[in-house]
Amino acid sequence: MISLDHVSVSFGGLKAVNNVSFDIPSGRITGLIGPNGAGKTTLFNAIAGHVPVTSGRVLLEGADITKLKPHERAALGLARTFQIPHEFSRLSVLENFMAAAAAPLGENVLNVVFRRSRFLAEEEAVTRAARQTVRFLELDRVSDEKAGNLSGGQKKLLELGRALMRAPKIVLLDEICAGINRTLLAKIADKIKELNTGRQLTFCLIEHDLDYVSKLCDNVVVMAQGEVLTRGSAAEVRRDERVIEAYFGGGKYEGRA
Ligand SMILES: Nc1ncnc2c1ncn2[C@@H]1O[C@H](COP(=O)(O)OP(=O)(O)OP(=O)(O)O)[C@@H](O)[C@H]1O
Ligand SMILES: [Mg+2]
Repeated sequence: MISLDHVSVSFGGLKAVNNVSFDIPSGRITGLIGPNGAGKTTLFNAIAGHVPVTSGRVLLEGADITKLKPHERAALGLARTFQIPHEFSRLSVLENFMAAAAAPLGENVLNVVFRRSRFLAEEEAVTRAARQTVRFLELDRVSDEKAGNLSGGQKKLLELGRALMRAPKIVLLDEICAGINRTLLAKIADKIKELNTGRQLTFCLIEHDLDYVSKLCDNVVVMAQGEVLTRGSAAEVRRDERVIEAYFGGGKYEGRA
């Protein structure tokens, strides 16, 4: 689905991502792990177009998307969530989902005037899709609640739902499970599995909880200091001395593994 070809991202003198190459295979759930500051979020930003790459290429289904803007990549089926949720706090859950849908025809004033019936039909379709997303994520009880009033865990579900509203082919999840309770954690895992098996949706997820990664991911990439340290099955990488060293050796890691 995604191929990273020698991707580097620098901030001034800092190489946050350094010469990273790997594939995110279609139809699978790939885990991206590594200690704090390893460059995981920066790599997601590079894939989604939120930071420019210094060198290298990002391919989506074989097409070079390195120079595309974030919304152009989204239109091709690439969705991502943010480590810090980006909800519209004064809109309801349902309205947040509607706002996240692919830009409807009605955005253009002339379309509203001349193609009103089509605009209304699209708005209806967006509303229907938003309601389905509410139901799928079991957010019915808070559907009309302002997003700003949701719990931390509910905001993570909202973040996932907003990504789903774009009818993506691949979703990049950045620590969607950080700081939420066990029940919600299990629920989000179920939803991800359901989307993966039922709709063949491809995922790449950044997570610090290795048990969680082991349960969901058949394929794990480990980053440290901007580079790919190793990759393999969850069991393989957990046994890898270099991974243990990266997590526990440098004293940078705060013990979430
Ligand atoms: N916009 C930015 N400007 C300057 N430096 C940045 C920027 N974004 C990230 N960095 C730096 O790049 C490095 C990688 O950060 P990044 O957020 O990608 O790590 P991460 O693996 O996602 O860490 P965490 O597990 O803590 O979320 C860090 O040293 C960070 O301080
Ligand atoms: Mg991060």
